[in-house]
Amino acid sequence: MKRIQNTLQSLTTRIRFAALAVAVVGTASLADEPPAAGDSAGDSGQALYLRHCASCHGPAGRGDGQEGRAFEPPPTDFTEVEPDAARFETAIRDGGMAVDKAGTMPAFRHTLGDEEIQDVVAYLMQLQR
Ligand code: HEC
Repeated sequence: MKRIQNTLQSLTTRIRFAALAVAVVGTASLADEPPAAGDSAGDSGQALYLRHCASCHGPAGRGDGQEGRAFEPPPTDFTEVEPDAARFETAIRDGGMAVDKAGTMPAFRHTLGDEEIQDVVAYLMQLQR
């Protein structure tokens, strides 16, 4: 009887240890996981905007970026259009044509993750005021 108890006890200890090991390894691998898309997760909407959008839409969202000057129609001036978070989101994710705008507006679904797109949209929305 005593032997069985001992065996059971050491078994429980081993199981506990295994569970702990899994927990530790699990946490470590979560921390090492790369961000969903791009290398800029954690950046603010403004930082993402400056990196990916300002070249066309301008540093302050007025549609006057260096690269954007060549486009006709020109890149959107966010201080002038009707603010619409859902339309902005679709345009950023799927490109200009998805919202009946110019196809020269690139799709960012392979560059920015969902959260990053949300952050950029929030930034654009506050350019309206
Ligand atoms: C290569 C130049 C270029 C880049 C880079 C670019 N855009 Fe655009 N964007 C455009 C053009 C051109 C349009 C279309 C304007 C039109 O058709 O009236 C547009 C349209 C849009 C629209 C639609 C506006 C509306 O009223 O529906 C949104 C939103 C937008 N861009 C956001 C962004 C964001 C955010 C980024 C960066 C993640 C970005 N754009 C990067 C050129 C660009």
